[in-house]
Amino acid sequence: MAELDGKVAIVTGAASGVGAATARVLAREGAAVVVADINAGGAEAVAKRIRAAGGRAVPAVTDVAEEAQVAAMVDVAVREFGRLDLLHNNAALAGPEVMTRDTLITEIDPELWDRVMRVNLRGYALGAKHAIPAMLESGGSGVIVNTSSGTGLLGEPSRSAYGTSKAAIFGLTRSIATQYGKQGIRCVALALGLIATEALKANFAQPVQDMMTSHHLTPRLGEPEDVAEVVSFLASDRAAFITGCAIPVDGGFTAHTASYADELRLLEAAEG
Ligand SMILES: NC(=O)c1ccc[n+]([C@@H]2O[C@H](COP(=O)([O-])OP(=O)(O)OC[C@H]3O[C@@H](n4cnc5c(N)ncnc54)[C@H](O)[C@@H]3O)[C@@H](O)[C@H]2O)c1
Repeated sequence: MAELDGKVAIVTGAASGVGAATARVLAREGAAVVVADINAGGAEAVAKRIRAAGGRAVPAVTDVAEEAQVAAMVDVAVREFGRLDLLHNNAALAGPEVMTRDTLITEIDPELWDRVMRVNLRGYALGAKHAIPAMLESGGSGVIVNTSSGTGLLGEPSRSAYGTSKAAIFGLTRSIATQYGKQGIRCVALALGLIATEALKANFAQPVQDMMTSHHLTPRLGEPEDVAEVVSFLASDRAAFITGCAIPVDGGFTAHTASYADELRLLEAAEG
């Protein structure tokens, strides 16, 4: 018997990157998965691939910033699979068309700020608002995993809106865990390091990726599956005592003082 047999999960932003990998890993572990994304073709393709591998999955075309669509997404899980155990809030505006316009705070476009907050933050809040009642009706337990970022723990040199939205997710996570913990709902945030998704490759040229890699303690950047395996663990009963916290899945990105590591490199280079 697989670890998540009988459980039902929704993954948002599941058409690509971290979300797609998480949907696949959860299905591999026996969960039935609602593959939710604003990208209809991508969501359908991920669900189809899961079904082809023998798993259970349906797509749900969802804009996570729109409450009626989020409610409908939760309805899909209950209608198709009869219950809800896990929500992985993961969708975000992470593409270059947004990231390149997300600037210093003195230059920020308020429309861009609102757009980022609507998806990255309001989307997570709406997901929790509608998932929790369905989880409670499913028998009084449930898990919400919120994808955030190490950049939400540290200062962002640019990307003011993205960094602030990711910082706020840690507060939202603690509030959800505090409000519904006694009813059996756990909520955990993930502070990701750099994950080598297509979105990341589009945002950062190879020399920048190499520089970023040097600021992780691992020999490589993360892969979407590195995150997916942690979500799968958190969804399982093995993680029953973990809630209200942020777990780094970051290759040590936030575990050390990057400027001192650079100093060491400069000293080593000077010594030849
Ligand atoms: N890749 C990284 O290095 C990295 C680092 C830190 C945090 N993250 C976070 O990980 C998560 C996944 O990012 P990714 O790298 O896989 O990027 P990605 O662009 O591959 O995935 C994001 C997905 O969200 C979907 N999406 C965007 N707006 C949406 C909306 N309004 N409603 C529903 N779906 C929507 C997109 O269609 C896309 O499929 C994001 O929350 C991102 O901020 C990523």
